[in-house]
Amino acid sequence: MMKTLEVDLGSRSYPIYIGANLIDQTVLFSACEKATSIYIVTNTTVAPLYAERLTKTLASFGKPVRTIALPDGESYKDWKNLQLIFDDLLKFRADRQTMLVALGGGVIGDMTGFAAASFMRGVRFIQVPTTLLAQVDSSVGGKTGINHPLGKNMIGAFHQPVAVVADLSTLKTLPARELSAGLAEVIKHGAIADAAFLDWIEANTAGLLACDTEAMAHAVLRSCEIKSAVVSADEREGGIRATLNFGHTFGHAIEAGMGYGEWLHGEAVGCGMVMGADLSCRLNHISKADLDRLRKMIQSMNLPTEAPKFGAARYMELMQVDKKTEGGQIRYVILEKIGKAQIKSVPDAQVLETLQATGAA
Ligand code: NAD
Ligand code: GLY
Repeated sequence: MMKTLEVDLGSRSYPIYIGANLIDQTVLFSACEKATSIYIVTNTTVAPLYAERLTKTLASFGKPVRTIALPDGESYKDWKNLQLIFDDLLKFRADRQTMLVALGGGVIGDMTGFAAASFMRGVRFIQVPTTLLAQVDSSVGGKTGINHPLGKNMIGAFHQPVAVVADLSTLKTLPARELSAGLAEVIKHGAIADAAFLDWIEANTAGLLACDTEAMAHAVLRSCEIKSAVVSADEREGGIRATLNFGHTFGHAIEAGMGYGEWLHGEAVGCGMVMGADLSCRLNHISKADLDRLRKMIQSMNLPTEAPKFGAARYMELMQVDKKTEGGQIRYVILEKIGKAQIKSVPDAQVLETLQATGAA
C-alpha cells in the first residue's frame, strides 16, 4: 500500500510517495506533463537495474526521455561530473521546461538537484531515491550540492524537488553495507526527535537488517515524517534543521580525512553519532547508559563505532570546515536527552576528551 506525505513549504510544497513498485506508476510523475523533455540522471550501477523501467514509465508523457549515467561513487560528486550533466543538457537542447529525474542514491540526488538548481538558473526535478539513505534522508528537504577536496558538501544550493518517489522495492538490490549506512540516518531521526521511534528501531533490528518490507516501510515513513516536519519549520537551516546534522560534524571530518568514498557517508555518520553521544554525555545531558545503548544500536546495525585515528589536531582542522561553523567556532549537535537535540559550541577540552575516548586521537 502506498503512503503519501506532504512537505509543507507553501508554493514549493511537494509530495513524498512511499511504497512498492512505484517507478512503474506514471501518475506519480504527473509533474512531467508540462515538461518539454525529461532527463533521467543516474549512475552506471543503478542504470542497468532501473533506468529502462523508469524510461518506459516516463515515455507515457510523449516527450523525449534521455538518460545520463555518471560514474558511481562519492569520489565522483564533484565539479567534473556535474559538468557532464550540463554538457548533455546543452548538447541535446534542454530548456527551462526540461524535467530532471534523479534515479539513485544520495550522490546522484545531490548532484542532480544542484544541476537542476543552476541549469538556466533553475529547472524542476524529481527525486527517485533507490538507497535507504536517500529514501530516509537525502531526497527530502532540497539540500543539493557537491564536495570540495577541503570539505564535504561545501558547494551547493537549496532547491526543492517537485516530488519524491521512494520505491521500497528498489531496496531489495541494495548491498548489505549500503543498507546499514541508511540505518544510521534512521537511528539519527529517533535519537534527535522521537524516543519511541528509537525504541521501535531497537526492537526491529533484525527485520531492518533483513530488509523486511514492512519494517522498511515504517522506517522510511517515520523518517520522512520527522525530516519533512523539520524542513517545513526551517527550510534554510536558520535553527532546528541543524539538529539533522547529529553525528555529521565528526562524520564529515572522517569522510574528508579518509578520502571520499573510503567510509560510506552513513558509516561516518554512525561513528560520528557515537562521538556526538559521547560529547553529550560529557556535558551531562545524556547518561552513560544512553551512550552505551546508542553505541550498541549502531554496532548492531554493523556500523563502525571506533573512529579513525587522525589525531586531535587533524580532527579539529577538518571540523573547522563545516557549514555550522560560525566565526571560526565549531558548533556541535548535542543530545539534550534521547529524542531531543540542540546545537551549540563546546569547550575544546571536552571535545578532545571525546576524540580520545572514541579512538580518534
Ligand atoms: P550513494 O549514492 O553513493 O549510493 C550508494 C551505492 O549504492 C552506490 O554504489 C549506488 O550506485 C548504489 N545503489 C543505489 N541504489 C541501488 C540499488 N537500488 N541497488 C543496488 N545498488 C544501488 O550513497 P548514499 O548513501 O545513497 O548517499 C550518500 C550521499 O548522500 C552523500 O554524498 C551524502 O553527503 C548525501 N546526503 C545528502 C543529504 C541531503 O540532505 N541532501 C542527506 C544525507 C546524505
Ligand atoms: N541531512 C541534513 C539535512 O537535510 O538538513
